Amino acid sequence: MTVAQVYHIPVLLRESVEALVTDPSGIYVDATFGGGGHSRAILASLTASGRLLAIDQDPEVPAQAIQDSRFTFLRGNFRDLPYLLRQYGIEKLTGILADLGVSSHQIDTPERGFSFKREALLDLRMNPQEGLPARVWIAQQEEETLADILRMYGDLPKSRRLARAILQATHPAFTTTELADCARRVYGREADKYLPQLFQAIRIAVNEELSALESFLTAAESLLMPKGHLVVLTYHSGEVRQVKKRYQHPAHQDPITGQKTYNWRLVRRCLPAPVEVQQNPRSRSAQLWVLEKL
Ligand SMILES: C[S@@+](CC[C@H](N)C(=O)[O-])C[C@H]1O[C@@H](n2cnc3c(N)ncnc32)[C@H](O)[C@@H]1O
Repeated sequence: MTVAQVYHIPVLLRESVEALVTDPSGIYVDATFGGGGHSRAILASLTASGRLLAIDQDPEVPAQAIQDSRFTFLRGNFRDLPYLLRQYGIEKLTGILADLGVSSHQIDTPERGFSFKREALLDLRMNPQEGLPARVWIAQQEEETLADILRMYGDLPKSRRLARAILQATHPAFTTTELADCARRVYGREADKYLPQLFQAIRIAVNEELSALESFLTAAESLLMPKGHLVVLTYHSGEVRQVKKRYQHPAHQDPITGQKTYNWRLVRRCLPAPVEVQQNPRSRSAQLWVLEKL
């Protein structure tokens, strides 16, 4: 295995890069660099005059592992895409890729406090230098708000009871396994099946993932050239809803003729093949969306 594969195995790699690169000499953004698996494959399909800018908010990403004059790494949040690109004088892009969610490195590094399998202070931040660690954030929530988040971002049943159990248990050094124990108290023997959803729900809230995605998709709309492709890998129903909204809802409807104008067209949606899911179980919930800017 290469360094990038140990850090994170890229999902739907060939399909996403083939869909993204419509002009091998174009300018591309990989908005979620992670271990750089997608970035490497994009660079491999560009000519000498192509260019790739990669973004990640996590200070631990191994961006320096790519030494290529066509490549630039920008540390930041993709919600600030226009601002990040302006520093490099870039106003238009040929294609944009976003592989949403967390990397295997983030989940598998115990000190990051992402995993219910390893005892650590509960953190769940993709950028530990920004925002509040989950253990502090939880203590600031009202029971009703926390229950709404557990239901909306984690599809969790008995969300009110779970929120109450978490708020009763929380303390300044609240850990990953103590959070998992709260789920055990509420769901009993069924708890294990709900743990991924519980951690995901709190992670989405702590990182403000859905509002970042909304700002990013709006920015992508103004930055992409006509016919440019936006390729998004989603892992959660909230992300799917946001992507669908972009191409299903008209940007404008003529009040007289009723004619609708759209900013995006769905080119393709695809899922990982069973063999990919078998080799990389974390690809299980992935969906690839290819949208063309009109
Ligand atoms: C699923 S991983 C990407 C893996 C990558 N495609 C690869 O091949 O290794 C998602 C990455 O996106 C980053 N990320 C998630 N949301 C972000 C945001 N709003 N801004 C910047 N980076 C973000 C995470 O820190 C993580 O490293």
